[in-house]
Amino acid sequence: MTTFTFKSPNVQDITVNRLGFGAMRITGPGIWDYPADIDNAIKVLKRTKELGVNFIDTADSYGPETSEDLIARALHPYKDMFIATKAGLTRQGPDVWTPVGNPNYLKQCLELSLRRLKVDSIDLYQLHRIDGNYPLEDQLGVFKTAQEEGKIKHFGLSEVSVEQIHEAEKTIHVASVQNLYNVGNRQSEEVLKECEKLNIGFIPWFPIGGRSISDMADQLETISKRTGHTHAQLSLAWLLQKSPVMLPIPGTSSLSHLEENMKAASITLDAQTVSELDAIA
Ligand SMILES: NC(=O)c1ccc[n+]([C@@H]2O[C@H](COP(=O)([O-])OP(=O)(O)OC[C@H]3O[C@@H](n4cnc5c(N)ncnc54)[C@H](OP(=O)(O)O)[C@@H]3O)[C@@H](O)[C@H]2O)c1
Repeated sequence: MTTFTFKSPNVQDITVNRLGFGAMRITGPGIWDYPADIDNAIKVLKRTKELGVNFIDTADSYGPETSEDLIARALHPYKDMFIATKAGLTRQGPDVWTPVGNPNYLKQCLELSLRRLKVDSIDLYQLHRIDGNYPLEDQLGVFKTAQEEGKIKHFGLSEVSVEQIHEAEKTIHVASVQNLYNVGNRQSEEVLKECEKLNIGFIPWFPIGGRSISDMADQLETISKRTGHTHAQLSLAWLLQKSPVMLPIPGTSSLSHLEENMKAASITLDAQTVSELDAIA
C-alpha cells in the first residue's frame, strides 16, 4: 500500500497509508447516523488497523460526537494511527447541516474534540465548511493559533475551490483538501490538479459514491465481470491510481464491506480498465 506524507512548516511530518477509513457511519444508537450496534462499530474500527489502515477521518458532527467517542474507545492511544477530524459544520437533524464559523465556536469545538479523542494534539484538523458570515482569516486564525500552541498538527479544508485554497494559504498552510469526488462525480477535478501541483493531500469524500455509482451500475458491472473486482473495489482502486496525492476514506459499518474495500489497495487496474472507468463520469 503506498503512502502519502502530510507536511506543514514547523510541524512533524505524518505519513499515512493512502487507503484510509471514513468514520461517518461509526456512531451510536438512537442518534442520527448509523449503526445502532456499538459492539459492531468497535469491531469495525479495530479491524481497520489489522487491515493496514492508519488514517481515519471523522468530524465532531458525525453522530454528532459519538464517532469521535467510539474512535477513542476502540483505538486510543492510537499507536501509529492518525486521526483527522473536523469542525465548523453543525447539525440540526440527520440531513440538516449548517456551517458555523464563529471563531469562539471553533475554539470550543477544538477543545471538545481534543477531549473526546483523548489527545493533546489533533493530527489533521479540518475546517468542515467555510462560513461566509465570518471573515475567512478570522476562522483560519483559530487554526493558526491552535497550530502554534501545538493543539493541532496539520490543517485541512473541506469543500473548497482552487481560489479558496490560495486565499487560505495567506493565513495558514493547507496540508489537505477534502472534496466530493468519485468515479461518477469529477466536479473537483481542478481542485485535485491544484493539490497535485502543491503536493498536498486530496481526500475524496463519498469515494464509493452511493447513488452516483449505482447510476453507473451497468457500466461498472461489465468491468466487474471482466476483472473479478467488485464495484467498490473498482471505484477505490481507480481513485488510488488516479493520483499520488489521493487519500480515499471509504466509510462502512460492515466488517465484510471493510474487508472487501481494503483489498482495493493491492489491485492494479490495467490500462483498458482505467480508460473505461475514466469514461464513466
Ligand atoms: N467533508 C465532507 O463534507 C464529507 C461529507 C461526507 C462524508 N465525508 C467523509 O467521507 C467518508 C466517506 O463518505 P461516505 O460514507 O458518504 O461515502 P462512501 O464511503 O463512498 O460510501 C459509504 C456507503 O457505501 C456503503 N458501502 C461501503 N462499502 C461498500 C461495499 N463494499 N459494497 C457496497 N456498499 C458499500 C456503505 O454502507 P454499509 O455501511 O452498509 O457498508 C455506505 O452506505 C465519511 O465517512 C466521512 O468521513 C466527508
